[in-house]
Amino acid sequence: MNLHTPAQQIPRPPCAAPDAADPFAATGEPLRWGVVATGRIASNVTEDLAGLEDSVLQAVSSRSQDSARAFAEKFGFSTSYYDDDGVTGYQRLFNDPEVDVVYIATPHAQHHEVARAALESGKHVLCEKAFTVNAREAAELIDLARANNLFLMEALWSRFLPSVNRAWEIIHSGELGEIQWVQADLGFPSDHGSTHRLWDPAAGGGALLDLTVYPLTWALGALGFPAAVTAAGALNDDNIDTQNALTLSYEGGAHAQLTSSLVSSGPGQATVSGSAGWLRTGSVLHNPRELTIHPHQGEQRVETFEQAGRGYVYELRETTRCIQQGLTESPTMPWADTLNTMRLLDGVRNQLGLRYANDA
Ligand SMILES: NC(=O)c1ccc[n+]([C@@H]2O[C@H](COP(=O)([O-])OP(=O)(O)OC[C@H]3O[C@@H](n4cnc5c(N)ncnc54)[C@H](OP(=O)(O)O)[C@@H]3O)[C@@H](O)[C@H]2O)c1
Repeated sequence: MNLHTPAQQIPRPPCAAPDAADPFAATGEPLRWGVVATGRIASNVTEDLAGLEDSVLQAVSSRSQDSARAFAEKFGFSTSYYDDDGVTGYQRLFNDPEVDVVYIATPHAQHHEVARAALESGKHVLCEKAFTVNAREAAELIDLARANNLFLMEALWSRFLPSVNRAWEIIHSGELGEIQWVQADLGFPSDHGSTHRLWDPAAGGGALLDLTVYPLTWALGALGFPAAVTAAGALNDDNIDTQNALTLSYEGGAHAQLTSSLVSSGPGQATVSGSAGWLRTGSVLHNPRELTIHPHQGEQRVETFEQAGRGYVYELRETTRCIQQGLTESPTMPWADTLNTMRLLDGVRNQLGLRYANDA
């Protein structure tokens, strides 16, 4: 697959450094948050959200009354919404004028529909990865945010972590010379039942949409978007990919090899190799606490990192700071990167014969 995107020509700039030593510290006026869905990641992210000095836990919404109320009680939300009287709990939250910004934590296949409703209701949006199922959906959301002057960001939390920022800083400092290749893997044998979102085609199941964005983050951080991608993958009887392997090719000869799997585990590390040395992340690569840097000339060293909260606070700080400053997109996770990522994943899916109902 050849990717003819403008981004392939642009060397990847270093990620912006996290704002403050303490990411929980306020950067402006409080924002009133609404959390959409009450599953596993909603709970983990809300733990960090509750600690932000300038966040107000305004409302949570769920399809179910019991879940909405239990979640509100656990974290101290003022209001809980659930499906009632023919109106979804999610839409009832979007109708609440006391909510400024929503965090969307439904399965991928619902991201587009739910985020669109939020934007059409005038809410700023932080939406989980994979941002959407395809690039068409992503482009539509971006157009909507732009037209309504609202903040919109993919919740790709790794990009905001101090360890990842430091790795990108080293890579772009020239210490490793010219980057020649990247290898990265992420996987686990998923014992979730066949009805779990990871295995459910209707939820956008499969390794590609759930996992590949993380190994890909390392290729993009080191080399930018590629000129071409070649993909291999295994599809199960429900036609979702149980694992995949991507080779990204760059003008000048560099390449990246990325593996994601729902049926086996690996070291879960990224290695970035340049003409003057290499860097390897600790495991797991989407939240490394350690970087090993091995220059060809000189001593190998290990840099270690503390994590604030559960690690989601950094993306929450960025969302908060951007909205407080009137920005509609984050310079660290810009719309172009989200859109180009979805285009790349669409291209991979074409090669694998992997289609979802959202593509119709
Ligand atoms: N950033 C990260 O570290 C990270 C980690 C894990 C997952 N994620 C992403 O977050 C999203 C949610 O993942 P999760 O692990 O939290 O999933 P989950 O535990 O299954 O929760 C998803 C929630 O979405 C709501 N939902 C709405 N429509 C649904 C449908 N048709 N089927 C199932 N649930 C539906 C449900 O909440 P209600 O019943 O309350 O409405 C459900 O509890 C995914 O896009 C995933 O990729 C991100």
